[in-house]
Amino acid sequence: MTRVLSCIQPTGEVHLGNYLGALRNWVEGQDKADVFHGIVDLHALTVTEKPGVIGVNTLQLAAMLFAVGLNPDVATVFVQSHIAAHSQLSWIMECTVSFGELSRMTQFKDKSAKREAEFVSAGLFTYPALQAADILLYDADEVPVGDDQRQHIEITRDIAIRFNHRFGETFVIPKAVTPKSGARVMDLQNPTAKMSKSGDDDSGVIYLLDPPKTIEKKFKRAVTDSDTDVVYDRERKPGVSNLLEILAAATMTSPQQAAEKYSRYGDLKMGSAEAVIAMLEPIQRRYQQLLQDKAELMRLVHKGNSRAEAVAAKTLARAQDAIGFLGKT
Ligand code: TRP
Repeated sequence: MTRVLSCIQPTGEVHLGNYLGALRNWVEGQDKADVFHGIVDLHALTVTEKPGVIGVNTLQLAAMLFAVGLNPDVATVFVQSHIAAHSQLSWIMECTVSFGELSRMTQFKDKSAKREAEFVSAGLFTYPALQAADILLYDADEVPVGDDQRQHIEITRDIAIRFNHRFGETFVIPKAVTPKSGARVMDLQNPTAKMSKSGDDDSGVIYLLDPPKTIEKKFKRAVTDSDTDVVYDRERKPGVSNLLEILAAATMTSPQQAAEKYSRYGDLKMGSAEAVIAMLEPIQRRYQQLLQDKAELMRLVHKGNSRAEAVAAKTLARAQDAIGFLGKT
């Protein structure tokens, strides 16, 4: 069976764009391939400085992954920092990638430029080596990623090929795949920009844990377009089209079909809010249940960890043997 790996950083609350664009596909994909899902807290450390934050975010994200429907008996959900092999292989990856290659990573250039006067850790620079370790440890055949991560998969392939060439066949060469396209959810206040938690103003961002009243309020205030027709046209009518796309994703129809039911913006906003509230209600309920029983939640995390650990430890040993480190026995 094809082994598929995807990872997510515990850097904040999960929003509707994450869910409809990615997480819902993860759930759908869990019965079609051997899926591994890492909560990559070590990657989040590249930009986290406050004590205590990462662990809380990690636990909440784990609860959210199970709440949206990942089945711990089928999908392997693991916490990166719980599996020492990630850090161990990462160093080996750092020694297999060149300074020049890392310097060409556009994400590093963007992120370090954005941080300007802030602390830019060496981890931000070597980040792709850790990501390569994540991928190669699991013998992943496929890594579904958006365009922003393609370069990181390319460099992972280059590293794997170089390692195999230097030390003998060790790693499976992974392939970047385009995820089955989920809905493209835009900010409700700025419908030409992707919904994301990075802006200062999150009045256009629907979080999966927003209470129904908040969701309703955010939809009511959503930016629409200057005329009054409810039609799906991303170019000419970005605001209305975004609402239609969300409504369609929440009710499993097409935006064009969703448009037929509405003739007024106000009704469309209310209809979208109701559909999203109904879609999120069971997720919110499961999330609260999971967090109320931390022991049970940790049992689920450990279940994924131990499956992941078994695979990762073997791959790490293979790499160490290939290099020819002195064995301990
Ligand atoms: N860099 C990825 C992101 O920011 C997260 C990530 C870390 C990842 N390790 C990975 C993604 C391995 C895919 C495979 O989204």
